[in-house]
Amino acid sequence: MLSYRHSFHAGNFADLLKHLTQVYLLNYLNRKDKPYFYLDTHAGAGFYSLHSPEAEKTAEYREGIARLFAADPKHPFLKEFKALISSFNTAERLDFYPGSPAIAAKLMRPTDRLALHELHPKDYQLLSNTFHQDKRVRVEASDGFAALKAQLPPKERRGLIFIDPSYEVKTDYNLLIKAVKNGLERFATGTYAIWYPVLQAQTTNAWIKRFQKAGLPNLLKIEHSPLPLTSGQGMTGSGMLIINPPYSLATDFKSLLPELNALLIQGTQGKFLLEELI
Ligand SMILES: C[S@@+](CC[C@H](N)C(=O)[O-])C[C@H]1O[C@@H](n2cnc3c(N)ncnc32)[C@H](O)[C@@H]1O
Repeated sequence: MLSYRHSFHAGNFADLLKHLTQVYLLNYLNRKDKPYFYLDTHAGAGFYSLHSPEAEKTAEYREGIARLFAADPKHPFLKEFKALISSFNTAERLDFYPGSPAIAAKLMRPTDRLALHELHPKDYQLLSNTFHQDKRVRVEASDGFAALKAQLPPKERRGLIFIDPSYEVKTDYNLLIKAVKNGLERFATGTYAIWYPVLQAQTTNAWIKRFQKAGLPNLLKIEHSPLPLTSGQGMTGSGMLIINPPYSLATDFKSLLPELNALLIQGTQGKFLLEELI
């Protein structure tokens, strides 16, 4: 079942937390001259127009990137992220939002390597069209969970594994834990960044407990919910689980989250937390 299209959701509040984390992790890898590998297991279409019928239909980006675009952020990461999104747009107008592949391709160096996996035939085609001339990039229409086996360990021995499933099918939750365990057996020193939705706190927390029980090392959880849990609006927030995070990430995100929350809050009860789950 592949009915999810990220074009309906690009630039929403959850993309902001997800891509701020991605940018932080890529910038960290860029500090060393040595090449690295980026694996995007669920890549999506790669790049989005915010005027497409899909984006206009849900208008989710208006409670996400449009808020940041209209603001004068103080935190350096928010300033930098706003500048990054501006670089995909022209004349100070917000027309486009990059997906994780476009963000990675922009920040990575000529010697680095990207592998992008996407199963939806239309999004795979869009993704391939965008990157077919970029020699660093390989796009595959194959299962992203299986890619953790097929692509790891990378020859560079440094890398970011970015895992952003649509969770359309409930089995994704268990498949993900298995795939990450598999990945870690092959590439223990990689950084793994996993996005998850907060739909019902109890279910989300039970899944994270399973993650902890799977014995994954150095696990950091960052969660942000701009909507109150009781809003009855489906996804009220989202989070990132990061395995092997840079030591500075927790401190840096502690200073970022209050401003991000103030920017994105809907109602009066935005919530954010950061926990080291070792
Ligand atoms: C949340 S979207 C990805 C968004 C993208 N990572 C970004 O940040 O711009 C999830 C994508 O995963 C794709 N997908 C679903 N199951 C998959 C699988 N098993 N392997 C690869 N892609 C899959 C969906 O078609 C969808 O495009």
